Amino acid sequence: MAGFKERVFSGVQPTGNLHLGNYLGAITKFVALQDTHDCIYCVVDLHAITVQQDPDALRNSIREVTAAFIACGIDPKKHIVFNQSQVPEHAELAWIFNCVARLGWLNRMTQFKEKAGKDRENASVGLYAYPALMAADILVYRATHVPVGEDQKQHLELARDIAQKFNNDFGPSIAKHGFGDAFFPQPEPLIQGPATRVMSLRDGTKKMSKSDPSDYSRINLSDDADAIAQKVRKAKTDPEPLPSEEAGLENRPEADNLVGIYAALADTTREAVLKEFGGGQFSTFKAALVDLSVAKLGPIGGEMKRLVADPASIDAILVDGAERAGVIARETMNAVKDIVGFVRR
Ligand code: TYM
Repeated sequence: MAGFKERVFSGVQPTGNLHLGNYLGAITKFVALQDTHDCIYCVVDLHAITVQQDPDALRNSIREVTAAFIACGIDPKKHIVFNQSQVPEHAELAWIFNCVARLGWLNRMTQFKEKAGKDRENASVGLYAYPALMAADILVYRATHVPVGEDQKQHLELARDIAQKFNNDFGPSIAKHGFGDAFFPQPEPLIQGPATRVMSLRDGTKKMSKSDPSDYSRINLSDDADAIAQKVRKAKTDPEPLPSEEAGLENRPEADNLVGIYAALADTTREAVLKEFGGGQFSTFKAALVDLSVAKLGPIGGEMKRLVADPASIDAILVDGAERAGVIARETMNAVKDIVGFVRR
């Protein structure tokens, strides 16, 4: 992006079990981007409280997501890992963005409609304003690239709209303070690969999610090898053999999902998977998927367990990350305050 240093930011909510969807849609991308970019990965606890949380469970979950990041291969020394509430500039910039974003924009957010459900009047104001906080998370670091799953696409579009409106609304002031014609970059979503939307193992038309009442609908990152193998074996399929080409996966959501999962875990394409398993029975493919899933995911659960057993070390990582994130965030907020016209220290 012209004029802006490339920087990666992304966040994960500490609201219960992390699952295969989070892993393939987001965390594997976080890991890969470390080789090419400066990365900031955030456990978004302020987002978590947009719905009610048990305080002790929330604290545990913050540590568990941090442990998952590290167990999956994120390096908190070379990059930044922290929890959102330790850097108050997120909430501060979010307020300013609440005043930039338009009601009409937020009214269009499908995730709010899904989460609020029929009882909309009873949803928290935070749940409604959530996408403005998400924009602040990204833009307080003036991040340029945001790896996420497909379900976050609309929120990213809103973040781009907010960045653009801020740049337009404050154009003359931005120029006056020496930032040229744009203070915020247009953050680019990175939504790529065969598993940007991992579906439930029980129903290929529903997204894999933490909130599904059936534990068999998802593979949790904390699952051990036996649990992983059982869930893959029990995953819903259809009676047809696997097709040899991608077109044959149309209208076969469960088959499509499992082939996508295999491709992502094996770091290859759906096409290559079908070349290998096409024409064969599901049982042969599933046996291979069990082996691959256990080999890739089994060690992560073990490492997470080892890490969460030492909460003091995890907390130290979060404090160190928050200090380094805070330096960048404060610099942005000082500039934003000058641009908006606040008197500051
Ligand atoms: P969250 O916590 O729901 O999910 C974390 C990441 O996992 C991805 N994901 C999936 N990908 C593929 N298939 C699935 N079934 C699946 N389920 C979840 C999500 O797309 C996400 O990338 N609002 C965000 C957190 C957030 C954030 C941010 C992200 C807050 N601030 C700033 C990026 C930048 C959320 O609730 O993700």
